[in-house]
Amino acid sequence: MLAVTGKSGRVYGYDRTTQAPVFDVPATTLAHDQEPLDFYWKWVCPGTGAQYNGTAYDPRTGSIFVGMVDWCRYFKSAPLTGDNDYSGGSTTPDYRSLPEGRITALNATSGQTLWRFQNDAPVIAGLITTKSGLLFAGDVKGRLLVFDATSGAPLQRQELGGAMNNGLISYSVGDEQYLAAAVGGSSIITDGVAGPLRVTVLGLTQSKKPETTTFPRLNDEGNFASAPKALFLTVCGNCHGPSGTGQLYPSILRHPHLADPKLLEKFLASVPAPMPKLYPGLLNKHDVRLIANYLRTDIFKCGQSDGQNCKSYGRPVTGGTEEWRRIYSVLTNPRCLNCHTATDPTHPDTNDYPRQTDDRRAHLFGISRGEDNKGLLNGRCDTCHGKSNNPQTGAPGVEEDGQSVWFLAPSNMAWEISPGTPMPGDILCPKLKNPETNGGFTLKGLLKHMDTDVRVNWAWAPGLNSRGFERTQPPISHDKFVRVFGRWIEKGAPCPKVLD
Ligand code: HEC
Ligand code: HEC
Ligand code: HEC
Repeated sequence: MLAVTGKSGRVYGYDRTTQAPVFDVPATTLAHDQEPLDFYWKWVCPGTGAQYNGTAYDPRTGSIFVGMVDWCRYFKSAPLTGDNDYSGGSTTPDYRSLPEGRITALNATSGQTLWRFQNDAPVIAGLITTKSGLLFAGDVKGRLLVFDATSGAPLQRQELGGAMNNGLISYSVGDEQYLAAAVGGSSIITDGVAGPLRVTVLGLTQSKKPETTTFPRLNDEGNFASAPKALFLTVCGNCHGPSGTGQLYPSILRHPHLADPKLLEKFLASVPAPMPKLYPGLLNKHDVRLIANYLRTDIFKCGQSDGQNCKSYGRPVTGGTEEWRRIYSVLTNPRCLNCHTATDPTHPDTNDYPRQTDDRRAHLFGISRGEDNKGLLNGRCDTCHGKSNNPQTGAPGVEEDGQSVWFLAPSNMAWEISPGTPMPGDILCPKLKNPETNGGFTLKGLLKHMDTDVRVNWAWAPGLNSRGFERTQPPISHDKFVRVFGRWIEKGAPCPKVLD
């Protein structure tokens, strides 16, 4: 028999003599995988299936073991133009779920599935069986997984401190058997813990203390090296493309503030999955500085004529009456402003999106406004934002008439003067009051909206973010906000004088 697997997520058995197909068995989630693609995004499982490492065979029982990625993607084909003929289209992951993995044991002769293990991280590393009946596998979160090969019972799980993306071998010296694994580095299938690169050797019995050999990072003369370009290309460019414009994963061009090494450090240390954990670990402070530098000069081209403005976002400023200043403090807090964002007409493709978190960074996953303020075809708001806050993913949600109504405020209701910078009070106030520039609201209508709109009310019950922390709330309570807004109207809704 000959057994083959691959990105289709299936395992095929062939008769080696006649080449006749014998079996064709799914080993990860499959959906729409047999349908033709067209020019619109189509959701297909598997997204990736089996990667480049080997499967394992157990001659004792005649079984084969296959590790898979279990994560769906969107695909579309494109007319061939010369630029995209290699892949013939585009693909983007399905960020509604995090990547998982699956290990399947099959009878090598019939293809019958013997057992399956669903893992909360992709299984990319090679698998290996032992004569004593064990199966070893590893995942991108850096866990060595040990099973009873026959029953599939998980026996042990060990943290190795870095993604397992590569080979796993077993060998013996004298009477002791060892297991060696390549650990660390980032994998193109994400959600891993990158960790420093090393080979970890473990002893199978407790009789001799296993020796663990950690290779130091390649030094400055090595190829991983001090050259910022090489570092960017091997670590970031792999996933985000050599110019940062996106490849397997989205463009990073919306994040020019990351040219600041402090902000890059903070971002890499706190960015949620599926972006892998690269720092601290694979990268050290020095690397982060080199990458930030390369981002500044070559990716964002900060301040150059064809480059981006990499300045940090502006702060809210206003004058005006006591009531107005309170109102302004709510309107410009991140919970409101993240949805009332401005478009930069000179860069509408990279500059029109919601923002996230108190840092007001560009919404991750490459989410954009779309024609109806509800997102592009492959990132509609309601695919992730449901009818209520989702404490698992951290995606907020609100409902009206049984439907999620979590959408961007239309561009004409933007409260930023330019992307990222809140409108100063003397500009925001008259805009808010004027039905021609506020979407047709009267002052009374605005008051009602502030009181009863579900999105406004959400700002005071914003739930947990994607890292499991409570979001902050506007500086005054909702009750107080509505009372102050009413009082401001009664006093003739005065605006602050023009600021300079
Ligand atoms: C989930 C995104 C979202 C959030 C969060 C959000 N808004 Fe809005 N907002 C919208 C949308 C969408 C509209 C357009 C509603 C319509 O046309 O009926 C809107 C319209 C408005 C309007 C009327 C138009 C205008 O610009 O004057 C006001 C006032 C408003 N929002 C206030 C707030 C306040 C105050 C907060 C925070 C406490 C807030 N919003 C938070 C999405 C949001
Ligand atoms: C293994 C692949 C991988 C590597 C390596 C990687 N990233 Fe990412 N990155 C992702 C994924 C997946 C996301 C998640 C999608 C998202 O959040 O937008 C992401 C998100 C991002 C975003 C937010 C993009 C957006 O949607 O607006 C930025 C910025 C970013 N990465 C920067 C970097 C930098 C800088 C490096 C190198 C230090 C790097 N990434 C290395 C996979 C990777
Ligand atoms: C792929 C899933 C996904 C899609 C699609 C998506 N979002 Fe989100 N969104 C999230 C997650 C997850 C968070 C939580 C991030 C956090 O707070 O750490 C979030 C957070 C936000 C926030 C930030 C809330 C705050 O104040 O911090 C806003 C605003 C938002 N999304 C708007 C939108 C809009 C508008 C759309 C459609 C144009 C959209 N999102 C599409 C997943 C998604």
